[in-house]
Amino acid sequence: MLITRLKLKNWRNFPELDVPLGHRVYVIGANAAGKSNLLDVFRFLRTLAQSEGGGLQKALKERGGPKKLRSLHARQDTEVRIEVELSESIHDSTPRWRYAVAFKPEGKGKQRVLVTEETVWNYGERILRRPNQEDKGDTTRLTQTHLEQINNNAEFRELAEYFADTTYLHLVPQLLKHADEISGRLMENDPFGQGLLQRIAATTKKTCDARLRRIQKSLDKSVPLFSELRFVKDEISGAPHLEARFKHWREHGAWQREDQFSDGTLRLIGLLWALQDGDGALLLEEPELSLNEAIVEHIPLMLDRILRDRKKGVRQVLVSTHSEKLIANIEDPDSVLLLEPGDNGTKVRPPSVEELRAMQYGLNPAEVLLPKTRPLQVEQMGLFA
Ligand SMILES: Nc1ncnc2c1ncn2[C@@H]1O[C@H](COP(=O)(O)OP(=O)(O)OP(=O)(O)O)[C@@H](O)[C@H]1O
Ligand SMILES: [Mg+2]
Repeated sequence: MLITRLKLKNWRNFPELDVPLGHRVYVIGANAAGKSNLLDVFRFLRTLAQSEGGGLQKALKERGGPKKLRSLHARQDTEVRIEVELSESIHDSTPRWRYAVAFKPEGKGKQRVLVTEETVWNYGERILRRPNQEDKGDTTRLTQTHLEQINNNAEFRELAEYFADTTYLHLVPQLLKHADEISGRLMENDPFGQGLLQRIAATTKKTCDARLRRIQKSLDKSVPLFSELRFVKDEISGAPHLEARFKHWREHGAWQREDQFSDGTLRLIGLLWALQDGDGALLLEEPELSLNEAIVEHIPLMLDRILRDRKKGVRQVLVSTHSEKLIANIEDPDSVLLLEPGDNGTKVRPPSVEELRAMQYGLNPAEVLLPKTRPLQVEQMGLFA
């Protein structure tokens, strides 16, 4: 399953947004254009759908409350609304699921945020519509969505599970390298990839070996002198570690542990592992960081290859990126979403007909689309005089 359409109202710097989504989505835009804010919608839905320790109030709290979330560009209408469509394929005429949730502060001096709409459609048939009679009799019910309640989401459990299965990765190699000093404090849902070693440790040996073999094959080509990768447990402490061997090292003590890997090698391993781990949407923040341009240009192909080998159907990947090299090598221009900031918030759009034509005539996506995402006043920053 994948999310085939996203509609937003008053979400951070997007007053209005309505875009189709495919198997790959490359979100491109200048600094502060809203790339992370866009990916954050899917993290919000994930928290909403987590029946244990999640829910609407939690998702709002994590973001500093509704005032921080609601678009500053919103005028009279202060409601925040998210709507998504999900299907097995992008060609389905009627989406398998459609889910809409809207909320706003109650007002009247109370601090509560209430659900103002929650609707679920299954193949076009509406199976939930809130607020309903019960909600009207007891408004406290509106502090929660039905999505987060196992007693109330039985008819659309698949949807809740899909949202909850979303992975977000913005791997920070230093956090992984210094895991011991941070003494195992893992952030919820592990956005920075700190728990990579624990996740590797939690897979069966057969799965782990198969995945590491695929990673090793990629590293072979992208990391100079790299020769072997393996997973070990420390004999004394039992702590999980990755070890790699490089060709220039002597025979003795030739294995290096992850704290000695380069940042780029670790980021690449984290990325390649995440691609093989899980079924829900995968959100990748700037996968190009710490990586050599010669590797970055292969990222789109690498995503497609690893995901094509999956046995379990399609997996959607949403990538935020600045990288010219990465964007230049996107095969399907329809998978790009352009963020264009303006005085009234950021507009999001797929490439236009003219832009698509320019790409058909041989220009690459970076040449056609990147100039559209340049910050307007960069020359006036005063740094280059
Ligand atoms: N509620 C809101 N209303 C309007 N704008 C908001 C709101 N919340 C955050 N923003 C704006 O969104 C911008 C940050 O967006 P975001 O972090 O998504 O950018 P980005 O494209 O990921 O940038 P970078 O490339 O630097 O990571 C900031 O300029 C911030 O002021
Ligand atoms: Mg960002």
